[in-house]
Amino acid sequence: MVEDLRLDSLEGVGPVTTRKLSDAGVHNIMDLIVRGPVDIAEITGMEKDTAEKIVNKARKHLVENGLLAKDFISASELYKTRQSIGKISTGTNCLDTLFDGGVETRALTEVYGEFGCGKTQFAHTMSVMVQKSKEEGGLEGGVLYIDTEGTFRPERIVQIAQAHDMDPEKVLDRIIVARAYNSAHQVLILEEAGAIIEQNNVKLIVADSAVGLFRAEYLGRGTLSVRQQKLNHFVHLLVRIAETYDCAAIATNQVMASPDVFFGDPTRPIGGNVVAHTSTYRIYFKKSGKKRIARMVDSPHHPEEEVIFALGEAGVIDPEETDKKPKKATKKVDKKTKGSEVEAKVEDEVEDTVELLEDHGADITSDDF
Ligand SMILES: Nc1ncnc2c1ncn2[C@@H]1O[C@H](COP(=O)(O)OP(=O)(O)O)[C@@H](O)[C@H]1O
Ligand SMILES: [Mg+2]
Repeated sequence: MVEDLRLDSLEGVGPVTTRKLSDAGVHNIMDLIVRGPVDIAEITGMEKDTAEKIVNKARKHLVENGLLAKDFISASELYKTRQSIGKISTGTNCLDTLFDGGVETRALTEVYGEFGCGKTQFAHTMSVMVQKSKEEGGLEGGVLYIDTEGTFRPERIVQIAQAHDMDPEKVLDRIIVARAYNSAHQVLILEEAGAIIEQNNVKLIVADSAVGLFRAEYLGRGTLSVRQQKLNHFVHLLVRIAETYDCAAIATNQVMASPDVFFGDPTRPIGGNVVAHTSTYRIYFKKSGKKRIARMVDSPHHPEEEVIFALGEAGVIDPEETDKKPKKATKKVDKKTKGSEVEAKVEDEVEDTVELLEDHGADITSDDF
């Protein structure tokens, strides 16, 4: 561990407090920030005031060491910082366009859509892409993959890595898979992830799916508030980890059919407001024949835009790749032409969807739980 992240390097934190904290699974200053004062007080039994003081000191310490942004910062400084924010290329032109370069670090990206729309394929692809060099659009980082549905497939990672001319064994080595069996376990994995993230230089955390176990365990309206509260804890933890450890977080979310919606798209994200309000970026995936549509539903700075992509051996791919037989010949396409081609396709193939999304946007972006 980096010397200046040790708990006892904080003024006023002696051996007793250090012991109390590490017994509760808080091993360094990063962990303090990630858990926050309310949690710290709860798990250690210390007074909330004391916990707040310690967490504030921890935050100050990280700011002084340049590991965390200052509380007050000029917009121009912020602009500079944002220019250097890490982005992971999706390996496709279409989705990189949608994401304005790639999936961002220090943010939570939620991908939602119905079964089979490619959420898990996207998560697998990103687990490979993040390992690429910076010149090739990666962050040379490792992955923490929280698999709650048992759908993580190392075989797929091998295929995707090969399609990207990477050494599959090395790629597999850098993905730490945590199979979560219930929602409490899922939370625990994240609470204890600090050391793993540091040791493996993790730059991407995947939670696939973030919501499924909570949904399965808390059924019915009576348990809804407990579910939302627990899910809220998980999602906030995810965001704080992404911010503190400078990594990207991807959470997938299934949509369920709402029989009460007769017109428009009868699906909505089941995480409800909790995930929606916490994610920085929200992407909606939808099937359209063999192709897929990705729509940027909610972002602080992206326009509401959509692109067509496809699924293939290499994971998520550009739609034109599916029409090609052997993969080698990657013809460079003029950006302008390509843009209008995509637009034309969007118009042709998904005209209906566009209208429906526009007409019934509220059904998709909000949740009436
Ligand atoms: N090797 C592959 N080549 C092409 N398509 C694949 C491959 N593996 C899986 N797929 C496609 O991925 C889809 C499943 O996507 P997935 O990401 O598992 O959906 P979900 O959104 O439910 O997580 C299937 O329709 C399948 O056709
Ligand atoms: Mg899946």
